Amino acid sequence: MLVVTNLDVFYGRIHAVRRASLHVGKGEIVALIGGNGAGKTTILSTVSGLIRPREGSLTFDGHDLGRTRPEKVVRLGLSHVPEGRRIFKPMSVGDNLLLGAFHRAKFGRRALLDQDLDAVYALFPKLAERRAQAAGTLSGGEQQMLAIGRALMARPRMLLLDEPGMGLAPNIMSEIFRHIRALRDEMALTVLLVEQNAKQALRIADRGYVLETGRIILQGPAEELTENRDVQRAYLGREQDGQA
Ligand SMILES: Nc1ncnc2c1ncn2[C@@H]1O[C@H](COP(=O)(O)OP(=O)(O)O)[C@@H](O)[C@H]1O
Ligand SMILES: [Mg+2]
Repeated sequence: MLVVTNLDVFYGRIHAVRRASLHVGKGEIVALIGGNGAGKTTILSTVSGLIRPREGSLTFDGHDLGRTRPEKVVRLGLSHVPEGRRIFKPMSVGDNLLLGAFHRAKFGRRALLDQDLDAVYALFPKLAERRAQAAGTLSGGEQQMLAIGRALMARPRMLLLDEPGMGLAPNIMSEIFRHIRALRDEMALTVLLVEQNAKQALRIADRGYVLETGRIILQGPAEELTENRDVQRAYLGREQDGQA
């Protein structure tokens, strides 16, 4: 579904992503793990058209993403849940969700939008209870649910999730990861999941890639990576042990 081949991305002279190749098949959850500064966010931002690659190709269902504008990428069915959630805190929960459908709001099908809102509220009942509240009053876990819900409002076939577990207590993080798993299992969404918390990510993923200073240094089935000594030492150590 998503195929990234020999991607090179620069910020000025900084070579942030180095000949990275990865693919995500329809219905898969693929984890992209790596420490701070490895290039995870840069890869996601390049896929969603926010950053242009220097070299390499990106295709989504055969569409070339290398020169596609971000709004068009969303319309193709690829939604990005950004690092740090980026919700609009003074706005209500409901209005934040509607922002996720901005690219089709102009077609004025309010009834369809309401249907999609109801679907998100059914998925995340905590958001339904707080729909009229300012988004800034939500807990960290609820804000992450809101960011995911907003992405779902675009009716994606594939989600790009950038560190959904960041800053959350272990039990809340587990709850978010269960939701992500359910999006795939029950709604057939395809997921590319970026995480520093390798343990949680590999638990719900089918396959994974390990990124280090812009290079993909390892890849394989999630169980294999979980058992890999280098991965264990670097990413599954005690300090990352988000309990469970
Ligand atoms: N806007 C930017 N300008 C310059 N350098 C950047 C910018 N964003 C990220 N970088 C650099 O690119 C590298 C990869 O960053 P990033 O993709 O954010 O990593 P990760 O998401 O894995 O933490 C890092 O060395 C980082 O300092
Ligand atoms: Mg990042």
